[in-house]
Amino acid sequence: MSTARHTGPRPGNHVIVLFGATGDLAKRKLLPGLFHLSVAGLLPDNYRIIGTAPPEFAMSDADFAAHAESACEQFCRTKPAGDAWRDFASRLSFGVASPEDPSPLVSAVEAAEKAIGAAGSGPGSVGRLFHLAVPPAAFGSVVGMLGSSGLSKGDARVIIEKPFGVDLDSARALNDTVHAVFDESRVFRIDHFLGKESVDNILAFRFANGLFEPIWNRDHIRYVQIDVPETLSIEGRAAFYDATGAYRDMVVTHLFQVLGFVAMEPPTSLAAKPLRDEKGKVFDALKPIDVRHVVRGQYAGYRSSPGVNPRSDTETMVAVRVEVENWRWHGVPFYLRSGKSLAAGRQVVTLGFREPPLRMFRAHRHDAPMGRVNEIVIDFADPGSIKIEFMAKKPGPEMTLGATEMKFSYDDSFAQANALEGYERLILLAMLGDQSLFTRADGIERVWEISEQLLTAPPPVEEYAPGTWGPPSVDKLIAPHRWYLH
Ligand code: BG6
Repeated sequence: MSTARHTGPRPGNHVIVLFGATGDLAKRKLLPGLFHLSVAGLLPDNYRIIGTAPPEFAMSDADFAAHAESACEQFCRTKPAGDAWRDFASRLSFGVASPEDPSPLVSAVEAAEKAIGAAGSGPGSVGRLFHLAVPPAAFGSVVGMLGSSGLSKGDARVIIEKPFGVDLDSARALNDTVHAVFDESRVFRIDHFLGKESVDNILAFRFANGLFEPIWNRDHIRYVQIDVPETLSIEGRAAFYDATGAYRDMVVTHLFQVLGFVAMEPPTSLAAKPLRDEKGKVFDALKPIDVRHVVRGQYAGYRSSPGVNPRSDTETMVAVRVEVENWRWHGVPFYLRSGKSLAAGRQVVTLGFREPPLRMFRAHRHDAPMGRVNEIVIDFADPGSIKIEFMAKKPGPEMTLGATEMKFSYDDSFAQANALEGYERLILLAMLGDQSLFTRADGIERVWEISEQLLTAPPPVEEYAPGTWGPPSVDKLIAPHRWYLH
């Protein structure tokens, strides 16, 4: 068994096929991410990237290179220029594919493998990675086509984008569709939150220090919050969003994954199996969500947004209390919140510690609410930081307590030159065949399973003003505690 997250050489030679190559995700994240990996010297010695899309989006190789260049102009940290860009662009090509006729794509893959072979290594040693950045409706037909055309053969791998279903039945059906062509060891369900340095750092923070793990449990922690408010509205994504809502878009995928890292027991190693087994045990221990512990909000004006059903019942924010019923966490509420058009754009985990006996300080003045500042605050938006908020004695003749903090920040502590964006790390790991930061079929199904009551009998949506923290019930949900972000 391998014992560590891959740290060795670059991946072997690869053909990467981007389904949905003309779409938004490819433009914003995938093409810029691949270019950045190439600039960072992390792509294989020899690789080709083939864009693919249905015939109505067909383009020439040159057009695809121009499309990639314009995507990188807009979204890359390193602008597409000079030898670095020319080298990258020379490896791009385009092959149309439809379930009825995959032959142009098959030919493009064969040509790319031949080109790699001609450049030094035999085609047999070339890995194939299919990245399916396609809408859910196209998913089954694309996977089926990969199987029937023979493109999936050997050890070809597939990266799958969320949503991984919309409920338990659809998630199972989706997993069955995928498993009919790719066994689980070749499936990489991508959740870009797990590619964030600061989320991975939760493991380092907890398990590489003797300081925190001993108190990381119900004896010391009163509550955990995973709070991901966004100021963005749903602009340009009405059709997707109105059919999806905040719970499915953010909580089922991203927030539960973060919860898995915060709540898991120490894995025996960082390899995929032990790490994902521990995350799986957390999901197994989740209590089914009780709808009395859910607030669904909808921002005022949402129903009149273009493309939204004027009577839409879709939540644009959601707050949920969940419980992990195991020895470590029994009785500790986990509050998850996310939504659009909220007061701030943040990504924060807060662990609140139990109040100590403060008797000796009661007779004295204090400038902060007593016992309310014992918190560890992990800000996992790139580049990320960790704060410990605590009470200290203020200078002066009296014992006056004041709230203060100790802070680690990635920006100030480490050079950021090696930092990779979530998608970049995850694509690299997929090429290396490392599944540790990808979600597994059973984990996804379990999260849908505990969500059943909420999905079938959701509480009504409550209106909130854009730019606030959601409807007032959001504060009632967390009482007697309070949101760290408020
Ligand atoms: C996506 C959601 O998965 O994550 C979006 O579909 C959300 O609605 C986005 O805005 C947030 O991720 P990040 O890390 O890019 O802020």
